[in-house]
Amino acid sequence: MRSGTHYSAGHSMYSLAKKLLFTLSGEAAHQLALESLDAAAHLRLIKPFVEPMLQAPVQVMGLTFPNAVGLAAGLDKNADHLNSLGQLGFGFIEVGTVTPRPQPGNPKPRLFRIPEQEAIINRMGFNNKGLNHLLAQVQKRRYSGLLGINLGKNLTTPVDRAVDDYLLGLEGVYPQADYITVNISSPNTPGLRSLQYGEALKDLLKPLKEAQARLADFHQRYVPLVVKVAPDMNDEELHSLAATLRELKLDGVIATNTTLDKSAVAGLKHGDEQGGLSGRPLTEASCLITRKLTEALEGELPIIGVGGIFSAEDAVERIKAGASLIQLYTGFIYRGPGLISECAEAIAAIND
Ligand code: FNR
Repeated sequence: MRSGTHYSAGHSMYSLAKKLLFTLSGEAAHQLALESLDAAAHLRLIKPFVEPMLQAPVQVMGLTFPNAVGLAAGLDKNADHLNSLGQLGFGFIEVGTVTPRPQPGNPKPRLFRIPEQEAIINRMGFNNKGLNHLLAQVQKRRYSGLLGINLGKNLTTPVDRAVDDYLLGLEGVYPQADYITVNISSPNTPGLRSLQYGEALKDLLKPLKEAQARLADFHQRYVPLVVKVAPDMNDEELHSLAATLRELKLDGVIATNTTLDKSAVAGLKHGDEQGGLSGRPLTEASCLITRKLTEALEGELPIIGVGGIFSAEDAVERIKAGASLIQLYTGFIYRGPGLISECAEAIAAIND
């Protein structure tokens, strides 16, 4: 059972911090929150306020996840905050998206909160410090939990040469990662999403699977390779994608990234900003894609469900739709770290 005092102390601390942080612009607030978290970790102030990590092991892709709730990619793009985020009770953490070379991303402002809908629009554009920086951070980590590393391509790399960037990423992170994500679903890198379909998808994934086999042999360790997909797919696209993932024996799929469908936020402040929408408006669409993928994949690949998970009920529904694990991002920003154990406990209860 949840220990009332810890939960409510942590919860009210988060409510206060959120009130202060939400007065800042979106990106500044994110940055300050992560820096405050690092400071709190340094002062050993996190552990007394959060639930101990829920131990409810799940076996997926040959790995044992201590619980089913992970942090989605994009919050810690450079693995700069791994040690402090690692104290919040996540069953796994995904860092990145990282590109081979550092790049600034899009001009600011590029992150917008839409509190009326508990949503975020972002067009960050893979701002990150590059592969070498991420590797240095990961190599010196104290975080001992499971680590996913999410790969992208540089803006200046043409889409038809994207495979070069993913291969560089794969070779670089292979010895450090527990699983590796091929992110071809960000809406903020022109042309990236076109890699999700048809021959372009095969031409990308085949060399990556071959490289994975070589690396597994070389390092004597098999690191699962998963693909992260967009929610904006019609049934034909979804079935063709699923067929390719099965044919090429990918190890898993992460569903979903942000959506380009902004109808839920039309007319609200920032509702017409360019970029991908996440949070509450994404719950249903992501869950539906998960359900359809579950059917199309016929159990051959596990699914990591992400998109608009804000409560224990959302978490349970995603698992019932066929996901083996879930990830949080926007729900974690709006609800705080209490959401992690809330979801993990609810999933553990259905898995029992
Ligand atoms: C993201 N997301 C993301 N995904 C990814 O694969 N690489 C990335 O670099 C980022 N960056 C990023 C930045 C910001 C500000 C947001 C809000 C989101 C997508 C994220 O991991 C997740 O898939 C979606 O946000 C949907 O989940 P939520 O946020 O609705 O829980």
